[in-house]
Amino acid sequence: MDLQLTDEHRMIRDMARDFAQKEIASIAAEHDETGEFPYETIMKMGAQGFMGIEVPEEYGGVGMDTLAYVLALEEISKVDGSHGVVMSVCNSLYCYGFLRYGTEEQKQKYLRPVASGEAIGAYALTEPQSGSDASNMRLTAALSPDGSHYVINGTKSWITSGPVAKYILLFAQTDPDAKPRHRGVSALIIDTGEPGFERGKTEPKLGIRASATCEIHFEDYKCPVGARLGEEGEGFKISMAVLDAGRIGIASQALGIAEAAYEASLEYAREREAFGKKIGQFQMIQQKLADMKMRIEASRLLIYKAALAKQASKETHKRYTLESCMAKTFASETAMWVTTQAIQIHAGMGYSKELPIERYFRDAKVTEIYEGTSEIQRMVIARMETGLR
Ligand code: CAA
Repeated sequence: MDLQLTDEHRMIRDMARDFAQKEIASIAAEHDETGEFPYETIMKMGAQGFMGIEVPEEYGGVGMDTLAYVLALEEISKVDGSHGVVMSVCNSLYCYGFLRYGTEEQKQKYLRPVASGEAIGAYALTEPQSGSDASNMRLTAALSPDGSHYVINGTKSWITSGPVAKYILLFAQTDPDAKPRHRGVSALIIDTGEPGFERGKTEPKLGIRASATCEIHFEDYKCPVGARLGEEGEGFKISMAVLDAGRIGIASQALGIAEAAYEASLEYAREREAFGKKIGQFQMIQQKLADMKMRIEASRLLIYKAALAKQASKETHKRYTLESCMAKTFASETAMWVTTQAIQIHAGMGYSKELPIERYFRDAKVTEIYEGTSEIQRMVIARMETGLR
């Protein structure tokens, strides 16, 4: 595995670090408290190219590689996980689907506005009755008698950026009788400005509170056939392939959160005194710091390995599901563990809202849940390794 960073990698990483420090650091706590979507900084991120890092310039992006994307996402998430998830969803769950499956016309119409930062993109798979069992969907898209459009009815839930998205990549049942059922799923592009689309209740969340999440409802929404991504019945595979990319993004988000908690703990351990010593001189604190560091570095290696596998897949078309699931599981569990230790090291101050440690802890939890729980990731990893189902 070649982990040499190029000048371009260092440039985008430093750019993301500077942006996060200058624009996000001062507003993160307030937006976490109020739950208000940080529209201004998200649009500024878009204008700087952070929403379409791997998208070629001809489609509005900056045309860099997957390693550049994870480096930038790690830096943004280190300052705020909420900005991190919006960036991850735009780049991976939205833009990547078009790069892989979109027609030229779809790329110009639906990819360009999101990659260039003019509009926000979202991804809708989950329904109220189905999260992990994703193909068990009830939302239907019935082809009109003249074959010109689909009529969509139903509800999707837990849609990250649902309240603010202009376009949504939606997965719908176009053939409810298909066997196996996942072969009846198709991928459709939704313009949220069209009639028949409505936003429902927003989710009051434990963490990543500045990101916006809601239910979305469709009532006789008309989606032109030209807005179908891929072939009819190919949607479930598209949803899974896109999640392979998305999970690398969430792993990078988790890495950023873990690093922030670790660096704060290190500083605190060097300064805080107890029993006449710096607390970093006590073996029990040292053990925590050493384990935090090792797990973070191990996460980084898995993420970079997954990023290289994804980059290579652009030529080879080889799946990188295994690398992506391993990176997400390890990095998200590291983030949860590291942020828990960070609170313990800071003790009362870690529990207080005066410091961002408790925010890191709350933000870390969702990385073990969304884009496939740790349990689902382990199931996929084990299935791939054993070849059994
Ligand atoms: N790439 C391409 N194709 C894939 C694939 C992948 N990674 N994974 C599966 N497939 C294909 C299979 O080859 C199979 O194809 P055939 O029709 O040729 O047989 C088909 O898809 C069905 O696969 P499975 O039989 O493995 O499907 P399953 O029903 O057993 O379930 C699952 C698979 C892994 C459990 C899947 O449902 C899953 O990942 N669930 C979790 C859902 C999830 O991650 N949701 C996240 C929502 S989005 C979100 O959280 C965003 C956010 O807010 C930030």
